[in-house]
Amino acid sequence: MKLLLKKGKIFDPVNNLSGEYDILIENRVVSKISKNIMEKDSKDVEIYDLNGLYILPGLIDMHVHLREPGYEEKETIKTGCEAAAAGGFTTIACMPNTKPVADNPATVEYIKAKAEKALVNVVPVGSITKNGEGKELAEIGFLKEAGVRALSDDGNPVMNSEIMRRAMEYAASFMLPIISHCEDKNLSGDGVMNDGYYSTILGLKPIPTVAEEIMIARDILLAEYTGASLHIAHLSTERGLELVLDAKRRGINVSCEVTPHHLLFDDSYVTGYDPDTKVNPPLRDKRDVTALREGVKMGIVDVIATDHAPHTYEDKLGEYDYAAFGISGLETAVSSLYTELILKELFDFNDLVRLMGINPARILKLDYPGIRVGTRADLIVFDPGRNWKVEKETLKSKGKNTPLLGKELKGKVVLTFVKGKMVYNDLENKGVLIYE
Ligand code: DOR
Ligand code: ZN
Repeated sequence: MKLLLKKGKIFDPVNNLSGEYDILIENRVVSKISKNIMEKDSKDVEIYDLNGLYILPGLIDMHVHLREPGYEEKETIKTGCEAAAAGGFTTIACMPNTKPVADNPATVEYIKAKAEKALVNVVPVGSITKNGEGKELAEIGFLKEAGVRALSDDGNPVMNSEIMRRAMEYAASFMLPIISHCEDKNLSGDGVMNDGYYSTILGLKPIPTVAEEIMIARDILLAEYTGASLHIAHLSTERGLELVLDAKRRGINVSCEVTPHHLLFDDSYVTGYDPDTKVNPPLRDKRDVTALREGVKMGIVDVIATDHAPHTYEDKLGEYDYAAFGISGLETAVSSLYTELILKELFDFNDLVRLMGINPARILKLDYPGIRVGTRADLIVFDPGRNWKVEKETLKSKGKNTPLLGKELKGKVVLTFVKGKMVYNDLENKGVLIYE
């Protein structure tokens, strides 16, 4: 079985490849990349005319909540991977705040077994502490053996500094990065949105930026002390970014990610009390959003990750105070970044591949060959001319909780290949998922 992708414009900074090329895929392996591949025998070759479309290496989302086991009403490994495929992610790292928590090898094995049948590659993240409670370390060595690529108590901070110190010492000896959810619970309290002008006029309980920054500072100090590799999850403030920049200059092994929602929306979006704007850390003020964008542009931000946090309609129902925190992000990430940031020239597609491919692969120690002859390619095709409306009915994720519902986005992922096999085809606007 041969597949010929004709005339797509490639953006592949891994292989320094850019420009229009034809790509031949034979038996799922990229066998040829060149300016004009002639395939006369059209019987056993399927030809796709990709003139005007872009081809990128498959993207990695290193921060995803797949919810299985335990919260299958919110998302399953199957549906989360379908959403990833539709969003252009060929590899996703899944957070351990499931039920049971992925703090043990059996749960990690369960996730891996389910993921084998799913559409994209899944990389499990293990819990730092037992049951994610921050009280007692998980069996980090066994988790590593079971195949986790990182450790995190995401959803909650490790409040006890001594426990975080020991976690970092173990993580360093097992060569696992710590992905830290930075939040001082005493400072965030029962807050529901960013502390500032809007929390005051809306009468909603505030979460100050310092609740996040104080923990970023602590974890940087602990990483310096222990030599651990530290990755700051969903960084959302200007001051936090300065702390990371300073740590990098001091040679500390630290990286950070920001989410599309923190780059796109500020806290004025909470004005309609839409529970889909409720997320942790909260949407920050304009100044922070501007600083995060600048941080991406300057290369201080290593990674853009969605923190895909699907919830049911019921979880998000009712008053803002009681709604669950989280935004469903896999399917809108690339299009919304394209619409708001790439088209406005904050960065380009090569940067996107660095932020959502090369850098997450480096942090999680994953192979990332890009589009190269001899490999089973993870690649995606993006149509910059396709405008689409975000609608509940067409999202593959069970989580419809996004403030982008009803909004028009520019550009869309239209083909996704995982290990050389097409798993998603939206060329004809049908959003087809392909299992076999
Ligand atoms: O908004 C969030 N939702 N932030 C987190 O840290 C956890 C996540 C979740 O698990 O729903
Ligand atoms: Zn998260």
